[in-house]
Amino acid sequence: MRMILVGPPGAGKGTQASRLVETYRIPHISSGDLLRAAVKEGTPLGVEADKHMKLGHLVPDEAMIGMILERVAQKDCDKGFMLDGFPRTRPQAQALDDAMKAAGFEIDAVVLIEVPDALLVERAVGRRTDPVTGTIYHLKYNPPPADVVDRLVHRKDDTVEAVTTRIQKYHSETAPIIPYYLDKAILKRVDGVGDPDAITQRITAVLSS
Ligand code: AP5
Repeated sequence: MRMILVGPPGAGKGTQASRLVETYRIPHISSGDLLRAAVKEGTPLGVEADKHMKLGHLVPDEAMIGMILERVAQKDCDKGFMLDGFPRTRPQAQALDDAMKAAGFEIDAVVLIEVPDALLVERAVGRRTDPVTGTIYHLKYNPPPADVVDRLVHRKDDTVEAVTTRIQKYHSETAPIIPYYLDKAILKRVDGVGDPDAITQRITAVLSS
């Protein structure tokens, strides 16, 4: 299974991906996580990406396309992968298709997790991530256990200002990939509001239909 999770910031892509990879046994490739690792390591890509990310802007296509195509060409992706956060622009979607075609593969499904804008800021601002286990918590909706609270990370781009910009960028730059995948008849829409377990069930249902 070669699939993509698409949705606005805070839609629950990371939350759902961590559950779905256990079912589908494919690597979860989060473009945001790869970028945050590069920022932490202080690589040239990380230094450049950090300038864009903290403002809530997209990292330029050239950098993103190279990074992700290199990752999906690795051995552990031979039987499939779950992309989370890539592609995010039409040029990225086209570059991924070209690379898949050249390798003799195609994308099987694109799952669009739909959540109204009004819920997204609260979801992102209340998010905390455990750097040891990678678990994603929410102060209100999925509160962390007391023994991990002190080590949790609040992302630099999870401020009201940056999330508001990220939502705007989603509508202006990422939403245009939706008709692109609709035309290919591989887009599956899923309601991302409700209990995370119910959303996982909705996603597995559309993927098996
Ligand atoms: P990235 O890390 O990809 O961030 P994002 O797409 O904005 O998505 P988020 O990680 O914010 O949210 P999510 O949908 O994964 O939600 P989560 O499950 O955590 O990208 C960050 C930045 O990197 C970008 O802004 C850009 O600068 C750059 N970048 C990355 N990829 C790029 C690309 N391809 N091109 C250019 N630039 C790129 O959930 C959020 C919160 O909600 C959590 O607290 C969670 O507990 C809670 N939650 C989840 N589900 C529910 C639910 N059902 N009900 C209530 N709360 C819920």
